[in-house]
Amino acid sequence: MCGIVGAVAQRNIVPVLIEGLRRLEYRGYDSCGVAVLAGGELHRARSVSRVAELDAQVRETHLEGVSGISHTRWATHGAPVTDNAHPIFSCNELALVHNGIIENYEPLREMLRGKGYEFVSQTDTEVIAHLIHSLYRGDLITAVRNAVGELHGAYAIAVLHTAHRNTVVGARQGSPLVVGLGEHENFLASDALALAGSTERLVFLEEGDVCELTLASVRIVDRHGAPIERETREVAAYGGAVELGPYRHFMQKEIFEQPRTIGDTIPATDSFDATLFGEAAPTAFSEIDSLLIVACGTSYYSGLTAKYWLESIAKIPTQVEIASEYRYRDSVPNANQLVVAISQSGETADTLAALKHAQALGHKHTLSVCNVSTSAMVRLTVLSFLTHAGREIGVASTKAFTTQLVALFVLAVTLGKVRGHVTASQEADYLRQLRHLPAALNSVLALEPQIIAWSEEFARKDSALFLGRGLHYPIALEGALKLKEISYIHAEAYAAGELKHGPLALVTQTMAAVTIAPNDALLEKLKSNIQEVRARGGQLYVFADADTKIVNDEGLHVIRMPEHYGLLSPILHVVPLQLLAYHTACARGTDVDKPRNLAKSVTVE
Ligand code: G6P
Repeated sequence: MCGIVGAVAQRNIVPVLIEGLRRLEYRGYDSCGVAVLAGGELHRARSVSRVAELDAQVRETHLEGVSGISHTRWATHGAPVTDNAHPIFSCNELALVHNGIIENYEPLREMLRGKGYEFVSQTDTEVIAHLIHSLYRGDLITAVRNAVGELHGAYAIAVLHTAHRNTVVGARQGSPLVVGLGEHENFLASDALALAGSTERLVFLEEGDVCELTLASVRIVDRHGAPIERETREVAAYGGAVELGPYRHFMQKEIFEQPRTIGDTIPATDSFDATLFGEAAPTAFSEIDSLLIVACGTSYYSGLTAKYWLESIAKIPTQVEIASEYRYRDSVPNANQLVVAISQSGETADTLAALKHAQALGHKHTLSVCNVSTSAMVRLTVLSFLTHAGREIGVASTKAFTTQLVALFVLAVTLGKVRGHVTASQEADYLRQLRHLPAALNSVLALEPQIIAWSEEFARKDSALFLGRGLHYPIALEGALKLKEISYIHAEAYAAGELKHGPLALVTQTMAAVTIAPNDALLEKLKSNIQEVRARGGQLYVFADADTKIVNDEGLHVIRMPEHYGLLSPILHVVPLQLLAYHTACARGTDVDKPRNLAKSVTVE
């Protein structure tokens, strides 16, 4: 998704601006650009290709300057063509980059046309550039502040003006922006990651903040122009580039990192204590009577899985909602409900908005399960639990998902204890099962060669069904999502008991039905569902636990999972589905780490 980098320095900052974009590339984009102020004039380069091509352009044209802004764009308003790529200029005097969506851009555009401004792009962004230009009276930060006061929607922006050498002005509302403090140089970015290598001293801007960066100072004001102080944080964790090592893609690397990331996420303590979730958790956990989980994409599926654990282990009613639905529907608030936001990035616009919506409705108990300690989501919730997946580069989430599952299982057991449903010996048993996960995962990863053999057949399919029951229904949903995201094969997941209510009509000899078959209480029911597909000639690809007695047969292909994992089984069963999607995508030659049209962190709604 869109990324912003800005810098003022006494050296040529173009390499910093390009390197920053490179670090944000994994988030997904379809065009990019950079603008600098040099000799009192704006100069820019834009590309509808990759950042590497932009880099080649700036080297060839010797684009250099001591203040500048750069951007990766993920198209919302207007196709990914050069005219729509940022930075966007106004009258060759002002350059602007923008993340987010401006909802009232149409009336603003008409108003600005009336003032004589010409529009050369289809973007909502051009409206902001011209609006600031029209309000400029010699003071850039005031013009930006007045302009953003007229915007409805979400934005993070960075602005250059020819009359202000060595100055970058930024503003945020609904999209993240962070200031990086250097020695006689200062930086701005939509993600701290972009500034790794330049500085580790960061100031996270809050909603409504407007900032002005010069060589010697950073000034932050609120929407009324009153100066504000924001805490400076040292964030060393962002240093260092992520290396691919022996792997072909980051997604493959991240799948194989899971034994370690899961091990890192399991609390090192000997028992589950509410304080694992924050100082206020013991009181909050004793007050709550139910849970509301909000999330998007893969994180939503971890929430769906957790519902089974929370209701069976902690006996606490749990509702799981797609964040973009919850934020716009009428719901019945309950002050004793714990609102749990699950997010890898902690910046997903819909999840953040759902959280704020819940808070506005009076929900006071909030918890984030998140992979980024400095993210807006963690800062917004009273309680938090950090997953330790490390930086996830592949757009299709893998290790973030399994670490979220670990976190949510810990939450279920902790709440079970608080509510008197988990005894000390059960707690010890759950902890033992968790600690066994890394070793168990290593034996699941050893199934890769068998999965590669399946993926060669899968690569020729147009469509696939994913079937699961109970705890593994959300895992079927996640498996189908993975296949869609990176191989572009249409896939749908069903709770296997629903087959007879519709999807059986799709089953022919060419239909692949991937089935998750753990040895749990629903196994016999699932075996009947398998027969329903076989009887209609469908091709079954079954991941069966070692002790299920499901064996290879005509139309029935079986990969045997090394063990049976009990309640933690979803964390193990999702891994072969990740590998199946990955190898199928490789066989089809898709861009696995940057699938078409998708973004890693979706900071617009
Ligand atoms: C995007 C990503 C998905 C991710 C979803 C939610 O769609 O491509 O992989 O699951 O956002 O992201 P979050 O950071 O909130 O977990």
